[in-house]
Amino acid sequence: MKYKFFYAIIISCLLFSAANSYSADLENGKSLFKFCTLCHGKVGQGIKGGDIPKIGGLPQYYLSHQLEQFVTEKRFNPAMVTIGRLDTMSDKDKDDLTAYIASIDIQKEAPTLTIPTYTGNAKKGKKLYKGDCKTCHGRKAEGKVKKKAPPTAWQYSEYLLRQIDFFKNKHRIHDNDEEDETFDDYSKEEIIDILTFISTLDD
Ligand code: HEC
Ligand code: HEC
Repeated sequence: MKYKFFYAIIISCLLFSAANSYSADLENGKSLFKFCTLCHGKVGQGIKGGDIPKIGGLPQYYLSHQLEQFVTEKRFNPAMVTIGRLDTMSDKDKDDLTAYIASIDIQKEAPTLTIPTYTGNAKKGKKLYKGDCKTCHGRKAEGKVKKKAPPTAWQYSEYLLRQIDFFKNKHRIHDNDEEDETFDDYSKEEIIDILTFISTLDD
């Protein structure tokens, strides 16, 4: 009786490790990434001024979710989907691609790129950030896997501002919640203060 139990545990462990033995093909990911570099830059550094966001080093869970959002047009950017070939990529290719992008050490690959301090009041922004954003995005805006919230600390302020406008206008869904009201009561000035605080956290 005792032994049966013991074997059952061993077998479950073996099955569990087999199911989790998938490892991404980073070479394949790297070669697919060339369709992205056209806009996002050689190491996914984006463009200063935020027309194109930094993506190198974003966590894989967040990247995968965004690619799905773009393909299903919950986020709208058809040029990215076709030029990036996301419309014809297999799920395995997308997994390899996002694993590769997540593995990029952006600070090492683009050491001179920093986020310029934005134009608002960082002190006021810090207070608002601590009250309303920290629980999900982290104390240093490093993101939280558990909340599925991305890091924002090293992202261009102008890009983040555009996303918050999208959230406010319901062109994009914040916190995966269609009813989200996070930004409803903030003035533009307060949002800029929050983004200014975030822009001081990029080291
Ligand atoms: C034609 C130019 C273009 C190409 C090619 C392109 N992108 Fe983008 N990408 C953009 C733009 C512009 C945005 C910002 C859209 C917005 O403001 O909502 C973006 C946004 C993103 C985001 C969201 C970042 C965030 O922080 O939320 C991810 C992830 C992304 N792209 C990944 C990729 C990947 C992976 C590829 C290659 C398969 C790719 N992109 C190819 C232009 C492009
Ligand atoms: C309850 C959790 C939660 C709280 C609180 C929260 N967020 Fe988020 N936020 C998220 C999640 C989850 C996402 C990712 C949504 C997605 O996958 O598209 C996100 C995405 C974002 C993005 C887009 C980042 C990008 O790279 O495109 C910005 C900007 C943002 N949040 C700003 C804020 C600010 C500013 C606050 C405080 C006023 C805040 N969030 C509060 C959960 C939260």
